[in-house]
Amino acid sequence: MTPVIATTREELAVVRSGVKGTVALVPTMGALHEGHRSLIRKARGLADVVAVSIFVNPLQFGPGEDLDRYPRTFTDDIEACAAEGVDIVFAPTQDVMYPHEPQVRIDPGPMGEIVEGETRPGHFAGMLTVVMKLLNLVRPDVAVFGEKDAQQLAMIRRMVADLDVPVRIVGGPTVRELGGLALSSRNRYLSEAERQTALALSQALQAGADLVTDGPVAVVGAARAVLDKAARAEPPLMLDYLVLVDPSTFTEVLAGYTGEAVLAVAGRVGSTHLIDNVPLFFA
Ligand code: PAJ
Repeated sequence: MTPVIATTREELAVVRSGVKGTVALVPTMGALHEGHRSLIRKARGLADVVAVSIFVNPLQFGPGEDLDRYPRTFTDDIEACAAEGVDIVFAPTQDVMYPHEPQVRIDPGPMGEIVEGETRPGHFAGMLTVVMKLLNLVRPDVAVFGEKDAQQLAMIRRMVADLDVPVRIVGGPTVRELGGLALSSRNRYLSEAERQTALALSQALQAGADLVTDGPVAVVGAARAVLDKAARAEPPLMLDYLVLVDPSTFTEVLAGYTGEAVLAVAGRVGSTHLIDNVPLFFA
């Protein structure tokens, strides 16, 4: 069944007021792949009605980032939503979401300045602002986000806790290609040679994860060795960061740390920015 498509606030309000039961929202920027679809399937198990939002949010792209070339595949996205039994698609235009330049934005706090936030200034403020708007417009009981964007998920959890937003946040595991590369809408930019280099990101995480019983220092060292090699490959990997962090604060953990951690990596191959991470537990 084709989902009901709402493109304006008014259409969404009509559809939303007709819903009986609970709603799960999966926010996306479209170009849907199996990672998004796994979140949609998860959402179906969490509520009576599943809504997907499709909106490429200009507020979270920095100058020189890929806003203009970000893939837009609306017809395919609707087909994917139909195949997954999505009930409602909210696909607003830029003018609908931002009838005027927003003055009031969500301040991400210290977590917005570190790791991915250091590489992409302003990104998390733009991301949190649109997520807050989507939550206010769709009013879901549950919202589902991927662990692929681990810092994004941590910050959304923190926003919801700190601002008492009445929604439950649920995370879904990262979906990967057979070779390990995490699915991303940006993977389609990669040439075959760039894709080979990009494999180093997931390989580094795997090499780190294999040494989890040896502690944080060994984990980071093993991952760094893989990334150093990729930096000398052709085309090279330009590393932005490799960090081992506390998953709820994204501050780095030190030797002797015990508990949950996330090994997170980001880098550029050609002109394509890629990020990946793996959850770890230090006993
Ligand atoms: P987008 O990159 O389209 O991702 C939408 C959701 O899919 C996010 O929660 C993301 O973490 C998840 N996702 C992406 N790749 C995944 C993979 N390989 N496995 C599992 N989940 C994956 O993230 C955004 O959009 C935006 O920042 C958004 C939250 C929509 C706000 O604009």
